[in-house]
Amino acid sequence: MSKYLIAGNWKMNLLQNEAIKLIEDINFGISSLNLSSVEVLVCPPYTDLHIANEKLINSPIQLGAQNMHFMTKGAYTGEISPAMVIDAGCKYVILGHSERRQYFKEDNEILIKKLKSAFDANINPILCIGETLKERELKETTNVLFNQISILNLFEKENLEKLTIAYEPIWAIGTGINATKEQIEEVHLWINNFVYSHFGLNIKILYGGSMNATNAEEILSTENVSGGLIGGASLKSEQFLSIIQTAISLSQ
Ligand code: PGA
Repeated sequence: MSKYLIAGNWKMNLLQNEAIKLIEDINFGISSLNLSSVEVLVCPPYTDLHIANEKLINSPIQLGAQNMHFMTKGAYTGEISPAMVIDAGCKYVILGHSERRQYFKEDNEILIKKLKSAFDANINPILCIGETLKERELKETTNVLFNQISILNLFEKENLEKLTIAYEPIWAIGTGINATKEQIEEVHLWINNFVYSHFGLNIKILYGGSMNATNAEEILSTENVSGGLIGGASLKSEQFLSIIQTAISLSQ
């Protein structure tokens, strides 16, 4: 297992030509790097997936989707099935991002179905969890995370081996204010203990929320942090490449 997973979440950004340019720049930048200890993933919007997949032939960069429906096919206008995600070249899918929970009312009930269909389709899910600022101030962080992570109890260990968790404090997403090293350390230890005590597994736990080239070293060197889910900074090749380079240096 590689030591770090550096994942770019492009969200609803980049038209096809812009996506091609970014992938070409990242591809060029990593061609001289030793990626044996770092896995790199990009998660473009659906409309860029097929072209991204073409551009990633012969590249070590993996492809992921930002969401998918849980049904295999049928009358679900506007939705994308797990098979379509695989067909577009994806090995990963982000599930339960706070923006989906907030704007599209994704709750535990839906996420259980999505996790199950990801496991059934052999897609590696990245399950996002995180608290709001208000919840943190009310000292509710652990309760909120417990509620979000408890759905894992419905799954078998053999499936959960394919799972990655992303801790993304909602107040840190897109704000330019990342969680402190101490805050990240505390939550990642808690998540690690939960997963290990329930399933006997050590899975990857990514941090997400205003991670960039400047704070990457501090965040990635924190105990139990096995990578990053990066939004804004993943849209700039020099920032994303710098984070990858930091992960490589730290894993040596
Ligand atoms: P950000 O987004 O890096 O722009 O804060 C992270 C995310 O939402 O996954």
